[in-house]
Amino acid sequence: MIQLTVNGKTEKLDVSPEMPLLWAIRDTLGLTGTKFGCGVAQCGACVVHLDGEAVRSCVTKMSRAEGKNVVTIEGLSENNDHPAQKAWQEIDVPQCGYCHSGQIMSAAVLLRENPNPSDQDIDDAMAGNICRCGTYPRIRKAIHLASEMQGKSRT
Ligand code: FES
Ligand code: FES
Repeated sequence: MIQLTVNGKTEKLDVSPEMPLLWAIRDTLGLTGTKFGCGVAQCGACVVHLDGEAVRSCVTKMSRAEGKNVVTIEGLSENNDHPAQKAWQEIDVPQCGYCHSGQIMSAAVLLRENPNPSDQDIDDAMAGNICRCGTYPRIRKAIHLASEMQGKSRT
C-alpha cells in the first residue's frame, strides 16, 4: 500500500511503487483533469503539485509521491477560483483545452514564487508546457491578469 494525500484527502493505494503518479491519479482515483500527453516529460500536460512543486506526473513514480501532498487541477481551489483559473476563463485561453490543466498548474507555481512576473519570466517558467494549438499569447495575457487579481486580493 502506498499512502499519500491527494487534494487534501488521505489515500491508500494498492499500486506498484514503480507506477507513474499520473496513472494513479487518472486510473485509480478517477481524477481525469490531469492529462496524458507525451509520457516522457516533454509536454507538461500532466503537471501536478507535489508538496507545492510542479512535477510531471507521467515520470514521477509512486515511490517518490509516497507520504507527500499531491494537488491536481481538481484540488487547486475550492470553487475553480484560483486567480489563474479565473483569468483563464476571463481571457478564454483554451482552444482544444487539452494542455490547460498542466498550463494552469505550472502558472500557479509561477504566480506563487514570482507574484509579478515579466513576459520573460513567464516565457521561461512556461517553456516546458507545450500547446499544440498555439495559445501562448493568451496564456501570457492570462498570467498577467492573474497576477493583477492576486495583487488586488492581497490589498
Ligand atoms: S505527459 Fe507528462 S510531460 Fe507530457
Ligand atoms: S489548447 Fe490545444 S493543446 Fe493547448
